[in-house]
Amino acid sequence: MAEIILLRDLTKVYGEVVKTEVLKKINLSFEQGVFTAVIGPSGSGKSTLLNIIGLLERPTSGQLIIDGQDFSEGDVNDYSQYRNKNMGFIFQFHYLLPEFTVLENVLLPIWINSGKPEEKMVKKALDLMAAIGIAHLKNKYPMEISGGEQQRTAIARALINDPKIVLADEPTGNLDRETGFAVLEVMMKMISDLGTTLIIVTHDREIALRAERIVELVDGQICRSFRVKEVGEEKVRELLEDRSCLFSEN
Ligand SMILES: Nc1ncnc2c1ncn2[C@@H]1O[C@H](COP(=O)(O)OP(=O)(O)OP(=O)(O)O)[C@@H](O)[C@H]1O
Ligand SMILES: [Mg+2]
Repeated sequence: MAEIILLRDLTKVYGEVVKTEVLKKINLSFEQGVFTAVIGPSGSGKSTLLNIIGLLERPTSGQLIIDGQDFSEGDVNDYSQYRNKNMGFIFQFHYLLPEFTVLENVLLPIWINSGKPEEKMVKKALDLMAAIGIAHLKNKYPMEISGGEQQRTAIARALINDPKIVLADEPTGNLDRETGFAVLEVMMKMISDLGTTLIIVTHDREIALRAERIVELVDGQICRSFRVKEVGEEKVRELLEDRSCLFSEN
């Protein structure tokens, strides 16, 4: 399969005076149509990695190639068009627009890219919302719904455009198990129907086990990267418990 995302010696340093190297010469690629789970302890650099792949933050050095295009240099603002068209981003914190209804929030990317949504897009939004259990909230405002419902609204908004790449940071964090899996099902269907590339940062082992591939980040470096099928579920469960990377010399 074709590699859609390629990272070469990618490094991210925060701070001018006191420099903290958060990502250390990461070499990693992602194939199109594959669901990868990124795991690792708090502070290991998972969100930073996702933000850089999502063109929301610049790497300090190294190369970032997406879909054959070099995004290593330049300003993140230059990439907003590419991002809006090709990427769906689900943050740890969802940013809904309070003055718009749930349905309007979901349709926002359509408005931004192509103006007033056609009837078929509205239907698509409602179908997507039904699949994750928020269709009945369509006329409510973000303030009037629960945190988990807000999160699902943000998820529907990230997926409405059929983005080529979906980047999700703890997308099921606020959701109960059943709802979390309903959300995951919708994303998995996008992979099989559209060849979407899915990268999910998660602390949830059961979500990680559904992935085709698991990448474990520890202290800004890749500690493990493997395919779930090749390793076998039982061994993967063991690896998910094993914290030995934390203690290895870097
Ligand atoms: N804007 C920033 N300025 C300075 N340091 C930052 C900034 N953003 C993140 N960091 C630091 O970079 C490191 C990695 O942060 P990151 O948010 O990527 O971790 P994470 O793996 O997503 O953690 P978590 O599981 O808690 O969400 C942390 O030590 C954090 O304090
Ligand atoms: Mg994070």
